Amino acid sequence: MSSSAETRRAEVIARLVGPMAGRSPARASAEAYAPANIALCKYWGKRDAALNLPCTSSLSMSLGRLGSRVVLRPRTGLDQVTLNGAPLAADSAFVRRVRVFLDLFRPAPDWGVALDAHNTIPTAAGFASSASGFAALTRALDSLFGWNLPPRDLSIIARLGSGSACRSLDDGFVEWQAGTRADGMDSYAEPFDTPWPDLCMALVVLSADAKAIGSREAMQRTVDSSALYDGWPRQVAADLAELKTAIRARDLATVGAVSERNALAMHATMLGARPPILYWRPETVSVMHRIWELRAAGLSVYFTMDAGPNVKVLYDAREAARVRSALAEWTVLTPEDSEAQETKGNSDGH
Ligand code: PMV
Repeated sequence: MSSSAETRRAEVIARLVGPMAGRSPARASAEAYAPANIALCKYWGKRDAALNLPCTSSLSMSLGRLGSRVVLRPRTGLDQVTLNGAPLAADSAFVRRVRVFLDLFRPAPDWGVALDAHNTIPTAAGFASSASGFAALTRALDSLFGWNLPPRDLSIIARLGSGSACRSLDDGFVEWQAGTRADGMDSYAEPFDTPWPDLCMALVVLSADAKAIGSREAMQRTVDSSALYDGWPRQVAADLAELKTAIRARDLATVGAVSERNALAMHATMLGARPPILYWRPETVSVMHRIWELRAAGLSVYFTMDAGPNVKVLYDAREAARVRSALAEWTVLTPEDSEAQETKGNSDGH
């Protein structure tokens, strides 16, 4: 990261944390949890890479018990990171990202942390593990240093770790306002307050392998080289407006249709990149067709996808058993599963 980017990020922290910036921790350890989130109207493309400021607003749904738990203990020297109990190499992409983020908060140059992260969601396969991870880390830092910041400020800090992490600090639906300010102080996420407990999301796990290209790089390449990106902000504006109206009306058919077309349009912008980006595997397409067949047979079921091969399925709680049995040939995870599975995985990605 360039020094001007570091300075701009440090300025954001100084503004939010105020006189407490650079102080030693208030306690010996801290622990926090944050849910993963899946966007129904996607964030794809940054207007500012240093501060992770998006070109458009976005709207997501949080995944309850599927997410990340982080335990932080200060130590002298290098940061040590474990994921689901296994130590991660200091030069792994995830540890490097975490270190750059922690650099914003160190009270002294030799101040490090032992960070134990536990994901209940497959890491690095488009399942938002970095979003829940950076949101949980932000909460743990707030508790460790005793800042007691309001949710809006925590959302801004989490965004500096990973853009979509700013949407992982609340349950239910969450809207991330793109904002217009250069310092990003108006770019944060807030609950979109319509409870809809019967709206369910299932994750179809097709691959838990780390993806070949991370969302950060893929997004940048799309913005820089895809002729199809020009139409994206217009599509998001229309989709977001329609989605919010449909959520308020608890209109699953519209929420599902908008989510599906928004995800497909995002992937279309990637296909137009040079070189092109295609996250889908043959099974990804099989699941999409299965969903369309189920719809043709009268089931109200829809899909969305992120920067990975897996598919997320939207449906009403009353259809849960039928959806499960129709997807029985694949591994399906839901936040409602009584024991959220601990999944060992790789360490990079979204
Ligand atoms: O926050 P990032 O850099 O991992 O990007 C997330 C991008 C998508 O998951 C594809 C879309 C979204 O809005 O979450």
